[in-house]
Amino acid sequence: MAFYHFPDGFLWGAAASAYQIEGAWNADGKGEGIWDRFSHRTGNIFNDDNGDIACDHYHHYPEDVLLASRMGIKAYRFSVSWPRVLPNGKGRVNAAGLDFYERLVDKLLEKEIQPVVTLYHWDLPQAIQDLGGWENRDTIDWFAEYAQIMFDRLSDRVRVWGTQNEPRVAAFIGYGAAVMAPGIPDYSRAFQVAHHLLMAHGNTLKVFRQGGYQGEIGIFIDSENVMPASSSEQDELAAQRYYEMDTGFFTDALFLGKYPPMLIDWLDLIAPKIEPGDMQLINQPMDFLGVNYYRSMTVSFDQDGGFLKCRASPMTLPMWGYTTVGWGVYPSGLVKVLTNINNRYSVKNFFISESGCATNDQPDDAGYVEDVERIDYLRSHFLAAYQAIEQGINLKGYFVWSLLDNFEWHHGYEPRFGLIRVDYSTQKRIPKKSYYWYRDVIAENGVFN
Ligand code: FCB
Repeated sequence: MAFYHFPDGFLWGAAASAYQIEGAWNADGKGEGIWDRFSHRTGNIFNDDNGDIACDHYHHYPEDVLLASRMGIKAYRFSVSWPRVLPNGKGRVNAAGLDFYERLVDKLLEKEIQPVVTLYHWDLPQAIQDLGGWENRDTIDWFAEYAQIMFDRLSDRVRVWGTQNEPRVAAFIGYGAAVMAPGIPDYSRAFQVAHHLLMAHGNTLKVFRQGGYQGEIGIFIDSENVMPASSSEQDELAAQRYYEMDTGFFTDALFLGKYPPMLIDWLDLIAPKIEPGDMQLINQPMDFLGVNYYRSMTVSFDQDGGFLKCRASPMTLPMWGYTTVGWGVYPSGLVKVLTNINNRYSVKNFFISESGCATNDQPDDAGYVEDVERIDYLRSHFLAAYQAIEQGINLKGYFVWSLLDNFEWHHGYEPRFGLIRVDYSTQKRIPKKSYYWYRDVIAENGVFN
């Protein structure tokens, strides 16, 4: 057994998002979001669950922050609900909504936890969706106006901002695959949405820099480690297309100011419409790149594999298997994801902004969960992060998904990702074994293999 000591000041954290935990979906003047609308429609979510109450974090945040601080995390990544702050998406500010985030930030700082704020984790105000949502170029400016309200109110205390979480999912799963809000099954519109999301990111960066706000700003993307299923040219090209849609579309635009040419050729008529100046807006220096890593895929050519003509299968190793949402566990994929991105763009600072797993948690009579699988998962991924640092990656921190069990989008409450169990019928929080294990990792700033 060896001990792997992380660099001093390494930011051990945990992550969550507004719609998944807050509940209070229409409390204190909050407006309707696209996830409220989507989850209230029968048949969209497993078990017809919704986020109306979720973990009721809106009311339980002091307890949640206290539990987080007892675990010792240095940073907490959460998102702001745009419709809570601006019920109509623009115009009138809901003072009570803004106050909630101020109280949350102050509580975190009181407990010496650094707030890391995501401005957009998929919960667009429904009023903006009704005006065309992310398909409407005006939304790019409305987003920046909302961001500025947050910067004005909190940038004296919040020093790390992420414009968006996983724009890929908002675009290609919300549109395109359409199993998430707003549920529009059209890939042509999905690519336009992806382009506008990236522009909104760039526009917000501009507002942040021009406003002279102090602190760091970046984006949180998701990236898979993608391997061709064989060395045939067809499979290699299929894997390239898949990776370019998964990651390259976003990272090339952010770091190189262009979309991957092979993918754009392939997309032909469904490629996004780009106007002069758009790519320059997207391509601005960021202070960090957050990467959410969950899984690796093998990809082969498949004539019937949709417009990309790809078949993707989760990759795992025999001793690991799959999490309860079917994602293959492949820890070294984390190293590959970071090194691939770094080799191409030389990224100044990275965070692992999400990483975690849903396991088959079995509570005992007191609600306590011995989630040894989650501990194994986290240990192996922390060791992968250590390896990435050794290979020269500037990795500044690691945010475990998630602090609490929560509403896992179209999967409802079935999968449990938390370090802390939530009994949804009583809102009781019960730290799991992994919570105590992670507490020791943080205290020792490292991990045994
Ligand atoms: C990511 C999301 C996050 C959570 C995890 C499991 O894609 O950003 O909200 O759902 O997956």
